[in-house]
Amino acid sequence: MLTDHWPLAGLRLTTPRLELRLPADEELAELADLAVAGVHPPEEMPFLVPWTDLPPAERARSVLQYHWRCRAAWTPADWSLPLVVLMDGRVVGTQAVNARDFAVVRQTGSGSWLGARYQRQGIGTEMRAAILHLAFEGLGAEEAVSSAFAHNTASLTVSKKLGYEHDGIAHHAVRDRRVTDHRLRVTRARWAAHRTVPVSLTGLEPCLPLFGAVTPTPRAAR
Ligand SMILES: CC(C)(COP(=O)(O)OP(=O)(O)OC[C@H]1O[C@@H](n2cnc3c(N)ncnc32)[C@H](O)[C@@H]1OP(=O)(O)O)[C@@H](O)C(=O)NCCC(=O)NCCS
Repeated sequence: MLTDHWPLAGLRLTTPRLELRLPADEELAELADLAVAGVHPPEEMPFLVPWTDLPPAERARSVLQYHWRCRAAWTPADWSLPLVVLMDGRVVGTQAVNARDFAVVRQTGSGSWLGARYQRQGIGTEMRAAILHLAFEGLGAEEAVSSAFAHNTASLTVSKKLGYEHDGIAHHAVRDRRVTDHRLRVTRARWAAHRTVPVSLTGLEPCLPLFGAVTPTPRAAR
């Protein structure tokens, strides 16, 4: 069975309205359709890599290849888990969680987007709450970070509502323009104090070694 070799295929995060999981290829195609239909107004660019500027066919393919690439490149020391977000059985967007050297650093990052027609209905908050639950409750993270450009009110508001605090800025060149990126950070204590969305996790246990989330046996005890 697939889950014997790739337990991440059995991981499920559920919130009152949403289910988050690794997509089957046909669900990935639904996500690609959403990307073609539009993710943000053309005059804005919320992403550091401006993949939504690609022509529609390439944009769709880039969604598929990004998801496949993350699985192919996975190691416990460096992983990125882009999940699809389903509401009423329909793919509405994607929410990713990632980490480097999680076993030691205990910090996760995240990235997300929703199809334009699904934005501003609280879904973004609910899906970020889901991966924060995975990070803190499921994996034992100490901190989670995020970032969004100064003009991205929706993403910055989601972060603030979930307890993230300002953690400095960075500047990047996007579409040949200088943009200010706001870094945000939420500690375990602040996450716990701002929890409002109930989340349940299934299928996590066999995935823990893949996340680097299992404390290694001390040398002396081996
Ligand atoms: C960022 C994103 C995932 C957030 O998801 P969402 O479902 O739209 O977010 P929510 O509805 O949960 O929350 C958004 C909050 O921002 C507020 N908001 C959004 N746009 C706003 C604006 N232009 N001015 C003021 N407030 C705004 C909403 O009112 C809401 O706050 P509230 O719940 O207190 O009313 C989604 O908007 C999206 O996919 N955007 C395009 C891609 C993107 O920017 N990805 C993130 C890159 S860092």
